[in-house]
Amino acid sequence: MAALTLDPTAVRARFSSLRSGFAFLDAPGGSQVPDCVGDAIARCLREASANMGASYESSRRVGAIVAEAEANAAAFLGCEPSEIIFGPNMTSLNFTLSRTAGREFAPGDEILVSSLDHDGGVAPWLELAHDRDLRVQHIELRPDTTLDYDDLAAKLSERTRIVAFAWASNAIGTITDAARVCELAHSVGALAWVDAVHYAAHEPIDVGAIGADVLLCSPYKFCGPHLGIAYGRSSLLESWRPYKARPAPTSPLGRRFETGTLPYELLAGFNATIGYLEEIGGMAAIVPYERSLGERFLDTLPSSVTVYGLPTLEGRVPTFLVNVEGAPAAEVATALGERGVGVWAHNTWYSLNLYQRLGYEGDAIRIGFIHYNTADEVDRLVSELAACAAS
Ligand SMILES: Cc1ncc(COP(=O)(O)O)c(C=O)c1O
Repeated sequence: MAALTLDPTAVRARFSSLRSGFAFLDAPGGSQVPDCVGDAIARCLREASANMGASYESSRRVGAIVAEAEANAAAFLGCEPSEIIFGPNMTSLNFTLSRTAGREFAPGDEILVSSLDHDGGVAPWLELAHDRDLRVQHIELRPDTTLDYDDLAAKLSERTRIVAFAWASNAIGTITDAARVCELAHSVGALAWVDAVHYAAHEPIDVGAIGADVLLCSPYKFCGPHLGIAYGRSSLLESWRPYKARPAPTSPLGRRFETGTLPYELLAGFNATIGYLEEIGGMAAIVPYERSLGERFLDTLPSSVTVYGLPTLEGRVPTFLVNVEGAPAAEVATALGERGVGVWAHNTWYSLNLYQRLGYEGDAIRIGFIHYNTADEVDRLVSELAACAAS
């Protein structure tokens, strides 16, 4: 039975990596992983080191791990197991699937991407456009960093084939109204292509409820192994010609789009991740807990720290991009790291168009809270930032 509220002490006891007391506030770069996930990976390598389809026990175990991973991913995203496609990471899957979709596109067809996006959601379309003579346009942002839905509506045309967007920004945490974008895309017959890599760690996903055609995420952002997962609507997958080796299985449907041998041990780890998330209460427990961390952070932040993006927890996940007055971001990140607080400094955060719009020069510091962080870590961070401003 899932817990109703998140118990941070019980959660943290499940992570060996958290025992040192170092405050990992950089989950968007890759979260910490509970011990059960590493154990499941090691167990798979010990007990299921085989390939699929042989008539002996360890091979049957591999088959069961893959089927369980498809079922778990489907439950996580709100779709059918046959609509799941696994790959090495979101970016690779996105290159593969965009190429697959693009086989039917004609020169002059149009792709829309959002100006909040990580380049893993943009570059595949730019490369496809380069090769196939397509046109890519960026959907503008409003001054508060939310997507400009009027600009999106104005840029749609009967040539629009794809509207690709990040559901939440990995740099500043701003959430996009996914259902609204999907509806707008469908109004001209375009596909709605959702990058949920950042969103998936913080909010529940239901691909049917938002009307996504394709959605991608990466379990290493939510306490899992380094993998990519894609959902593709079944009727869409049926209509696509896959890039794959000819003798490889073509069913269930999603497997048509997987190339080569899957990382079975990582799928076993992913199954443990889903079990872990359910045991700690799932998103019903995670969302309010993370929100309380984010609110505490914003409420106690000194005025010497500038937050880029939305000023409250409304319409965002608890990922913050900041700069400290008079202190270069890289120096702040190094100083904090030496004092046991892990944050990063970077310039674009791979969100090249957003970077141009935020207006800071050089780097900024990203703080990414996740459910294993604590109020005490928030307080330590705030006092360290204040000390950097004062020094
Ligand atoms: C919003 C977003 N999209 C895409 C990616 C790329 O994901 P992957 O590392 O799985 O390729 C990231 C990675 O940080 C991300 O944050």
